[in-house]
Formats: sequence, structure tokens, C-alpha cells
Amino acid sequence: LDFPGLFLSDEKIVTVAHRGASGYAPESTLSSYRLGVKMKADYIEIDVQMTADGELIAMHDKTVDRTTNGTGSVKKMTLAQIKALDAGSWFNEKHPIYARDDYVNERVPTLREIFEAFGKDTRYMLETKDPEEHPGMEEKMWALVEEFDLRKHVAVQSFSRDSLMKIREWDKDVPLFQLLWYNRPARISERALDEIAAYANGIGANYLRIDEGYVDRVKQAGLLIYPYTVNYQVNMENAVKWGVDGVHTDFPDRFLEVIEEL
Ligand code: G3P
Ligand code: CA
Repeated sequence: LDFPGLFLSDEKIVTVAHRGASGYAPESTLSSYRLGVKMKADYIEIDVQMTADGELIAMHDKTVDRTTNGTGSVKKMTLAQIKALDAGSWFNEKHPIYARDDYVNERVPTLREIFEAFGKDTRYMLETKDPEEHPGMEEKMWALVEEFDLRKHVAVQSFSRDSLMKIREWDKDVPLFQLLWYNRPARISERALDEIAAYANGIGANYLRIDEGYVDRVKQAGLLIYPYTVNYQVNMENAVKWGVDGVHTDFPDRFLEVIEEL
């Protein structure tokens, strides 16, 4: 992998496999990440949370209810309790056209297991999820990044500015993305952009509420813009026309097809 500078390149529009290639495989599992890597996404995106016994795992929701056969809050469960759950069968039931027998009994992976599986063969877009509810998660996450010597293979994103600022203190070069979510047409002031630019390299914002003007403003402020989660090719083409720097998608193959044709 060619480092550094991929994410800053004007030449390349970055593909982020959102929770892995999660359109085709149960999100945030090794199957989903494996497929993201196989499809040659530039990054696999990982929502990082911490269990009651302090282990970092990949899971989006605060509870295990939607993506496993169990129930309960991630932060109140131990890793052993979470590891006892089936994190794949729900996908087969929900998406029969992509169902596969080997998704049955898929386990929730730890961040360590993901790093062990892919090492330097990919890049990791790590999201600190609800860090205020998981005190100490950034320290553990960064220690793991260092243990696997992956500093140059990670970017970090978060809805929490404080969480990103912590990481920035430890590494002045790691790409950081401030996540924003708009429930109406996105607007952002120059002041807000300047504040973000003081600690982050880019913004991740929900595609459906942004437009070309927003993309322009973000770029004028010297920030990158990676919209999420863009799953239809017509929207991917729009995003590319607006000049986005990367896209988060559950279907990395679809986006790679779009940018190959440019
Ligand atoms: O990749 C951006 C996106 O992951 C942020 O939203 O809710 O899917 O984690 P969410
Ligand atoms: Ca995420």
C-alpha cells in the first residue's frame, strides 16, 4: 500500500467500506471486512466500542439486539457474553439474496482480531463510538494501533470532537475526520469550519443533506469531505461531480465501478 498521502491526493477518490462490505455480508464481522478488503476498498470502517471488561469490539449499535441473536447493552456485557452470540444469521434472514451458510454463527470481532486478520493489507477508518460512554477507549485503541505498527494505516473519525482532539495530541499526522449529521439541508459557518480545521483533516457528513455548495465550502476551508453512506450509483456519481474526496459505502464494488469510469 502506498503511504503516506493517499487520503490527501487530488488524484484518487477514496473508497471506505462502511462496516466492511456490509451490503453483502453481516456488518462489522470478519466476513464483511474480508469482502471489503477483497473488493479493494481503500479503508474498512470500524465502529469501535468497549465491553464491560474493557475489550474493544466492532459494533455499530449501543446494544447487540439488531446485529446478533442476543440482547443487551455492549458496555454492560463482557467480551465472553458477546462472543457467545451469533452475529451473522440476522443478515441471512434480512437479506436472503446475499445469504450464505458461512455467515451463520459469525462472531463479533475484537479490534485486535481485525488487526490480526488484515495487518498492513488494508487501511482502517476507526470510529470512536460514543466515547463519553466508554472512558479510556481512545487510549486502548491507540495502544493497539501502536502494537500492530499501524499508525500509517489508520484514520480516525468521530462525532466527538474531544475524542479526535485526544488522538491528535498523540499523533500529529494521523488523518482525523469530524463526523457531522444533519437532519435538514446542511449549512456550516466559516467559523465552524475553521474550528474543525484546527484539529481535523476532513469532515464526514450524511450525503442526503449535503450539496455541491456545501462540498465547496468544506474544500475552501482546506478540509476533505467524505459523505456517508452512499449506496446507489446515481448518488455516487453526484458526489463525484460535486468534488468529494471519498465516499463511505456498504457496496464498495459499486463505487469503484463509478470511479473507474472517470
Ligand atoms: O462512516 C460514517 C458513518 O459510519 C457514521 O455513521 O452511524 O454509520 O456510524 P454511522
Ligand atoms: Ca460508523
